Amino acid sequence: MTKRLLATAAASLMLTGLVGCSYLTFPDAPQSTMQPMSDFARTTDSLYWTTIYVTTAIFVVVQVLLTVAVIKFREKPGQDIPEQVHGNLKMELGWTFLPVVILVVLGVPSVKAIWSTQTDSQAADLLRVKVVGKQWWFAFEYPELGLVTANEFHIPAGRPIRFELHTGDVLHSFWIPRLGGKRDLIPGKANYIWMTADAPPEGQDWIRLEGQCAELCGDSHGLMRMHAVVHTPESFEKWVAEQKAPALASTEPKAAAGAQAFLSAGCVACHTVDPANAQAYLAPNLAHFASRPSIAANRFPNTDENLAAWLRNPQAVKPGAIMPNLNLNDQQVDALVAYLQSLK
Ligand code: CUA
Repeated sequence: MTKRLLATAAASLMLTGLVGCSYLTFPDAPQSTMQPMSDFARTTDSLYWTTIYVTTAIFVVVQVLLTVAVIKFREKPGQDIPEQVHGNLKMELGWTFLPVVILVVLGVPSVKAIWSTQTDSQAADLLRVKVVGKQWWFAFEYPELGLVTANEFHIPAGRPIRFELHTGDVLHSFWIPRLGGKRDLIPGKANYIWMTADAPPEGQDWIRLEGQCAELCGDSHGLMRMHAVVHTPESFEKWVAEQKAPALASTEPKAAAGAQAFLSAGCVACHTVDPANAQAYLAPNLAHFASRPSIAANRFPNTDENLAAWLRNPQAVKPGAIMPNLNLNDQQVDALVAYLQSLK
C-alpha cells in the first residue's frame, strides 16, 4: 500500500516536473505565452504563475498530509478498531474557511485581470487596427493610415493599439500568444482587444512574432496563421512610409508578362496591389507582396517554388483554399512569380 502510494506521488511529481521542463527546454518556442511581450500578455502570465504557485503549494501540503496519514494510521497487526469520532468543529471550520481564503487569493487577481483586459484604452495616441478574418487568412486595415495588409500586421511598441475584430464568414479567433489574446471574431458584431506591445529586444528595430486563428473554422483552420511585427516608433514610421508608396513592379519582360497575366488570368478579380484598397476583403491585398516572408497565410516560406506550387493548384497545398485553380500554364505561373516577387 505504502509502496503504491509513494509510486503515485513520485509519478505526479515527475509529471509536474516534465511540464516545467518542457518550458525550460523550449525557451524560444515561437508561440509561448510564457514570454510575454505586451501589457496584456504580462497580465495573463502573472495570473498564470500566481495560480501555479498557489496550486503547487496546495498539492505539496495535501500530498504530505496524505502520506503521513496513510503511514501513521495504517492498520497494524492485532490492532483494535480505532476510536470512533463523530464530527470535529475545528477541522470542519478549517476546511470551510481555508478554501474561501484560497479562492479569494486566486479570485481577486483574476477579476482584476478581466477588468484590465476588457477596458478600452482612452489614450490620445491610440492606433486602430481593423482585423478581418476569412477562411483562411487575415486582413489588417489601418483606418488612420489608409493602409491595408494581409496575414501580417505591424505595430509600434509603447503605443496602445485597439484591434477591432470582424469576420467575413465564420467564427475565427485572433491570437498572438506573446502579445496576448485570444479573442473571437464574431459574425455580425465587432469585438475588440487592446494592448501595448513592449519594445523589441535591445539592438533590434523590430521583432517578428507568430500567431494563428484559435477557433476551429473549417478545413484549413490549422493553416490560418499570421505574423505580428513589433517595431520601435521610428522603425514603424519607416514601415508605414514604405507601405504607402505604390507597389512598383519590375519592368523586366517576364515580370511585365506577369503583370499582364495578373489582369487577364483572373487574379485581379479578387486581389489588389493598391496598398490602400481593402477590396471588400475578398482576398489578400498583394501590395509589397515580395516584402512578406511567407505566403498563403504563413502556410509556407515565400520562395519562388512555393509560390509556383500555390498558383498551380491552391487546394493541393492548402485544403479547402477558396482561391480557385485557374489552370494556369507553366509560362503564366513563371511570369506571375516574377511579377509578384518584384512587388517589393
Ligand atoms: Cu480561422 Cu480557425
